[in-house]
Amino acid sequence: MYQAAENRYENMEYKRCGRSGILLPRIALGLWQNFGLEKSLEEQQEILFHAFDLGINHFDLANNYGSPAIGKAEENFGLALKAGLGRYRDELIISTKAGYTMWPGPYGDWGSRKYLMASLDQSLKRMGLEYVDIFYHHRPDPETPLEETMGALADIVRQGKALYVGLSNYDEQEAKKAVDMLKDMGIQCLIEQPRYNMFERTAEDGLFKALWERGVGCICYSPLAQGALTDRYLHGVPEGSRAAKKESTIGGRYLTEDRIDKVRRLNEIAVRRGQTLAQMALSWVLREKAVTTVLIGASSVKQLDDNAACLKRLDFSKEELAEIDRILK
Ligand SMILES: NC(=O)c1ccc[n+]([C@@H]2O[C@H](COP(=O)([O-])OP(=O)(O)OC[C@H]3O[C@@H](n4cnc5c(N)ncnc54)[C@H](OP(=O)(O)O)[C@@H]3O)[C@@H](O)[C@H]2O)c1
Repeated sequence: MYQAAENRYENMEYKRCGRSGILLPRIALGLWQNFGLEKSLEEQQEILFHAFDLGINHFDLANNYGSPAIGKAEENFGLALKAGLGRYRDELIISTKAGYTMWPGPYGDWGSRKYLMASLDQSLKRMGLEYVDIFYHHRPDPETPLEETMGALADIVRQGKALYVGLSNYDEQEAKKAVDMLKDMGIQCLIEQPRYNMFERTAEDGLFKALWERGVGCICYSPLAQGALTDRYLHGVPEGSRAAKKESTIGGRYLTEDRIDKVRRLNEIAVRRGQTLAQMALSWVLREKAVTTVLIGASSVKQLDDNAACLKRLDFSKEELAEIDRILK
């Protein structure tokens, strides 16, 4: 049975999530990849337990995480809870989501009340939980009336199946409408989850500002561009890396020649700062005042240690930020 490290809260930093009672760790761990059939349960649990020992008490899931993408990560996370992590349930923030294809037919996708309610019930069963801390709508649905989707989120909170709700992949305009609508229903949206990293900065165009003004927290996913913003691919594609996998989600998008050249130049700045490139990429995301947390993935305990150490150097000089901007142009 897993027993957590007694000093687990000593080195992590926690930041208030928007205008709410919740403090989130500045680094959270997501279970999108590495937590399905691709890794042994022992390896998965080693990573999850080590994360909690580091003070990473927020774990992010979705109905379609893990391989196969039909609840495997939730199932495996439920096993980790049973193996000891669950003793600390009241110290954990566990999130899940629905919004992408989960089951056949017209009710297993997008944003209907029917889908969201059924999917959350399935997620709770797979994880062996009575409630999640955060339930997200995973992506905006252009066809379902927003009133229906937000109404379902509000009712999920009222039913006690989620303590808070969040939005993911909503752009500035969509987020403004949804957050304001939830507010009219008496529910404060806790958090938005956009993609944000040095290569993908759309959130800077208005989303961050809108969230900040509305007191909504922000947790940025793929802060390492799935591993591209680390030293992992500086000398080709190593065996066992995400890019080496058959159904890789990273290749064409991040590992172009132009981007690898940028990564090399960014790496030089990181070295000067006394950080690894992964650490600098995370510190850079955390520099934004609207950002509560970076939501990382990790395939090893070593990566967790490397990433957690970004907190030792969060500050950037104006010159460093300008140099980074010039490289990224
Ligand atoms: N809401 C959404 O639509 C959405 C979409 C995507 C992700 N997410 C969430 O965000 C989480 C993180 O996404 P992500 O996995 O793309 O994040 P990421 O942190 O950008 O990438 C994680 C990957 O980078 C590599 N890595 C991590 N630390 C490293 C280090 N120190 N040195 C070298 N390589 C390192 C590992 O890949 P290797 O396997 O190569 O070791 C790891 O699996 C997901 O688990 C999920 O919870 C949400």
